[in-house]
Amino acid sequence: MDARIVLLPGDGIGPEVLWAAQQVLEAVGRRFRHQWDLAVYPIGGAALDEAGEPLPPETLNAALRADAVLLGAVGGPKWDALPPERRPERGLLALRKAMGTFANLRPLRVWQPLLHLSPLRPDRLRGTDFIVVRELTGGIYFGARQEPNERGEAWDTMHYTRAEIERVARIAGDLARQREGFVASVDKANVLATSRLWRRTVTELFKREYPEVRLEHRLVDAMAMDIIRRPNKWDVILTANMFGDILTDEAAALTGTLGTLPSASLGDARNRHGYPRGLYEPIHGSAPDIAGLDIANPSAAMLSVALLLRHSLGLEVEAQAVEQAVVAAWASRCLTPDLACEPGNACTTSAFTERVLHYLERPRRY
Ligand code: NAD
Ligand code: IPM
Ligand code: MN
Repeated sequence: MDARIVLLPGDGIGPEVLWAAQQVLEAVGRRFRHQWDLAVYPIGGAALDEAGEPLPPETLNAALRADAVLLGAVGGPKWDALPPERRPERGLLALRKAMGTFANLRPLRVWQPLLHLSPLRPDRLRGTDFIVVRELTGGIYFGARQEPNERGEAWDTMHYTRAEIERVARIAGDLARQREGFVASVDKANVLATSRLWRRTVTELFKREYPEVRLEHRLVDAMAMDIIRRPNKWDVILTANMFGDILTDEAAALTGTLGTLPSASLGDARNRHGYPRGLYEPIHGSAPDIAGLDIANPSAAMLSVALLLRHSLGLEVEAQAVEQAVVAAWASRCLTPDLACEPGNACTTSAFTERVLHYLERPRRY
């Protein structure tokens, strides 16, 4: 297969983890004889410095022409004082909107070697394997807003339409059919009007189109607790943009670190191969506190490569090869400092990457 993949390193640890991910992608190309056409473009703060805007037209056009896009992270203290429309994060939000990636899939598995690295007891964690489907191009992130004004006011509005809720709920329903057949839809219907529309729409849709899928509704505050209390109970968790953002950083902590969770953002657009043209990124940010030190955990970026291979290129065997190589590297006790119990024994980003490449080139059944 030949594929056109756009790489957007971004800021902070973004370039470090993306370089690690690129090496994994290239190793997959060599082992399975695929031809990748890789092109790097600036986004976020790097693009502000280079081109004066967080999402330059060249970057956007390349992303729209690609078969898939792989992104590191954006943002950092250097650009925090800029007006809101010029912040690095605005570039990422504009990219998600322009690519039409309304469904953000954030799968979480507590792989065997991570069981003992989690802040939670292994017996509570065993069997944890769920996927959060986060609505990504609507809700409070994209509603009308008033920036703080001279009267000391500001507001953000949360807006949803039935059509926006239905299309993302269908993604959750389809995933549940391939998994355990259970969807937990998370909202704040006891307070918010948008959540009442969300709950009604999801209930009606599942009754009509997914009668065999078990649907439960959960309030977001209780869900924040239940993700920790009973992590292995969940299968597919469907939720709105902001709730999904918060719940997935919390969920990542089940694995011991933010540095392991990948994501796939999908919409209706198809690439030249007939698969969704996705945007793939770790769920973590640019981690300015550790940028440039060669200690960032590149696992989330590498596992995002696996999602890219699976969802945008239909390469399931290759996707599993990447996942197995990352898990084998963890099992070999090569751990970056965010996971290592004794920091003195931790691996650098580069050493971890070498270890993953080793297992990718010499596969070992794990
Ligand atoms: P963050 O995710 O960057 O970092 C939170 C904590 O987790 C930090 O202590 C950091 O060192 C650690 N961490 C994160 N990723 C790690 C990794 N791969 N390996 C090891 N440790 C890791 O969140 P933050 O500090 O709240 O935000 C920093 C900047 O990143 C902000 O500008 C924010 O807007 C931006 N951000 C961007 C994205 C994105 O590009 N998708 C996501 C979240 C935050
Ligand atoms: C994420 C990030 C982004 C979000 C920010 C950087 C805009 O936190 O991808 O989780 O809130 O969606
Ligand atoms: Mn986030």
